Amino acid sequence: MTRFSDWSGYIAHTTGSPPKPLYHRALALFDRPGTAVDLGCGAGNETLDLLHNGWSVHAVDSSEAAIRTVTERATSAALPARDTWAELPEISVHPEYAVRELFRGWQLEHFDEVEEDGKSFGGPKHWHLYEVIAARA
Ligand SMILES: C[S@@+](CC[C@H](N)C(=O)[O-])C[C@H]1O[C@@H](n2cnc3c(N)ncnc32)[C@H](O)[C@@H]1O
Repeated sequence: MTRFSDWSGYIAHTTGSPPKPLYHRALALFDRPGTAVDLGCGAGNETLDLLHNGWSVHAVDSSEAAIRTVTERATSAALPARDTWAELPEISVHPEYAVRELFRGWQLEHFDEVEEDGKSFGGPKHWHLYEVIAARA
């Protein structure tokens, strides 16, 4: 009988794969983000999608490779915005999932990520921001 104790090959092979149909079926049962448990998260494809959709996720896996992979992916997805002003202490910087989390329970009429070179009153500037129109649900 085949025994699976090392999932590292599977995890490397599936990193970046689209979320599974079962996941979409489960997600469709909810009308707003909440807290999810991704049990046997593997490379974290569903975990990453949940985070991008404003969910909080407990990603669980017995494989060290899985935890390392999902942690790296979630951390890089949460890197601060690439806006020129992102390092300024008076500027609030949030990754997409955190911005979505701010509007949990609101109806998002418009949500768009904008990233472009432009200018500000101080000269050239790289803009990286989220445009949001939201109404209380
Ligand atoms: C077939 S993979 C599925 C991974 C991912 N959910 C996917 O759909 O791509 C199974 C995963 O479950 C994990 N796993 C297996 N037995 C486990 C256990 N007893 N507790 C936690 N994770 C386990 C493995 O390490 C592996 O990452």
